[in-house]
Amino acid sequence: MSFFYENRTSDFFFRNKPDGGALQFSSHLHYHIELVYMRKGQTKVLLNAESFMLEDDSIFVAFPNQIHGYESYAPESYQLLILNPDVLPELGNITGDRIPSCPILHHVSDHPDLLALLEMIRAEYAGSPSPLINSALRGLLLTFFSKLFRLMSFNGQKGNDSRAIRAIIEFCTQNYHRELSLELLSRELHISKYYISHLFCDRLGIRFNDYINFWRVSAACRHLSENVLSITQISTAVGFGTIRTFNRAFIKQMGISPSEYRRNHLSSAPTEWMQNTLALSASAILSALSSNCYTVTVENCIPSTNLALKNIALSGAAHGTVLLADCQTEGRGRLGRSFYSPGKSGLYMSVLLRPNLPLSVAAGRVTTMAAVAVARAITRISGLNVQIKWVNDLLLKNKKVCGILAEAVSIGEENAIILGIGINVGKCTFPPELIHIATTLYANGKKVDRNLLAAAVLDELAALDPARPQEYMPEYRALSATRGKEIRVLPHSGEPYDALALDITDDGALLVEKNGQTVCVSSGEVSIRNTPDHQP
Ligand code: BTN
Repeated sequence: MSFFYENRTSDFFFRNKPDGGALQFSSHLHYHIELVYMRKGQTKVLLNAESFMLEDDSIFVAFPNQIHGYESYAPESYQLLILNPDVLPELGNITGDRIPSCPILHHVSDHPDLLALLEMIRAEYAGSPSPLINSALRGLLLTFFSKLFRLMSFNGQKGNDSRAIRAIIEFCTQNYHRELSLELLSRELHISKYYISHLFCDRLGIRFNDYINFWRVSAACRHLSENVLSITQISTAVGFGTIRTFNRAFIKQMGISPSEYRRNHLSSAPTEWMQNTLALSASAILSALSSNCYTVTVENCIPSTNLALKNIALSGAAHGTVLLADCQTEGRGRLGRSFYSPGKSGLYMSVLLRPNLPLSVAAGRVTTMAAVAVARAITRISGLNVQIKWVNDLLLKNKKVCGILAEAVSIGEENAIILGIGINVGKCTFPPELIHIATTLYANGKKVDRNLLAAAVLDELAALDPARPQEYMPEYRALSATRGKEIRVLPHSGEPYDALALDITDDGALLVEKNGQTVCVSSGEVSIRNTPDHQP
């Protein structure tokens, strides 16, 4: 069984997924309690070594450090709640020391008080801009879980299983490359080795040695795709005593040898690659993601991720479906332009969003929201500061490093926004017409891992909501390269004119001063005086 440890940073998360969602997430564990109320639909739930069907009108609860994952069978309507148990110390005797004997509660609508509380929690969370738990929310959560736990039965005292598992996992993830044994863990953590071994087998469903090898092989995969160390050096670096044990463990987990893996993941010569970026991979993105609202697919080379995702959206795909491509042959830009999308050096990603807003409002808001999310992600991953040029270009030292294209899809009942993001990441040779106006993160000597950047963009997007522009528009305005500048407006139709950019509205329109009058520009584009793309 393979799974990963998810280090959650916020105390609380609530997702309300109306009809058409898909509850799909690979096996993971965390210190938080996770609860799903399946209103309608069918998902297979994996919990430690067992699996259950979660169907209409049922609640599933994963307790701290239980390995859990979901395999969606049909479009679902569900609510997902993830909570740090430390927020409710009153329930510590249950959440810390026991586990449910059955993790599923059926016929939830027989308990209307539970559903009413869940609805109040949803409303309180939606109305509170902060991920921190306020006292009203805490009260609701305490009442909800107290009532729920009264309806469930629990296995007898488990001692301090949960805290012990957390300590063991933290220790292993930080020290897997050292020589590890149950004896060493027992000495370091002051826990009996028999108890540790029992926790692995009974609670985590995996043998200690297999667990350590899982971390070592995962780390080896990263090294193998970087092509810096030799296979023998990698074997030692990740903690294998001999190359033989490394090969054996690697083949057991990955199904191929380390050298085959390296061949498959390095398509260009090493020296050329060193100037480029790491291979894009859905699993690397998923393991770097903190949010669990996405399904991610990576393609090699396709015409356009926006175009492909549009078709997928029309067949009913869920909010949070993400498509990336290593290269695009017909990358689309705004105003019918193309977007230069060479292989191995860019991040070309489209995200399917189904916001709870009229599409006409959502498209403008999603564009500005995405600009803030991408700016945050770039700064977090590369340390570089970017600016936003109205409406959707990200600039690095006055040159375009990222373009964003939000396209509305509406056919019959299918309403969605396809949010396309293109970031120039690695070394690339721009065609002559772009040399003076485009740049890449690599131009500043930053070698950025596209997988980490993709995960950071998705996490930053998940933290924002187009229905709450007050949470990101102040940042958009602060990062604006346009606001307060002398600009040339190039309207959709009509003659270009000079103006002073005054401000950007919450819906993404640009307010300009033209001949002493304030004019609202909601389409077309602008160029900023004294910058490389200014069009006099
Ligand atoms: C622009 O600069 O005008 C917007 C460019 C948007 C490019 C991205 S790359 C991923 C997605 N797929 C596309 O075909 N376009 C967007």
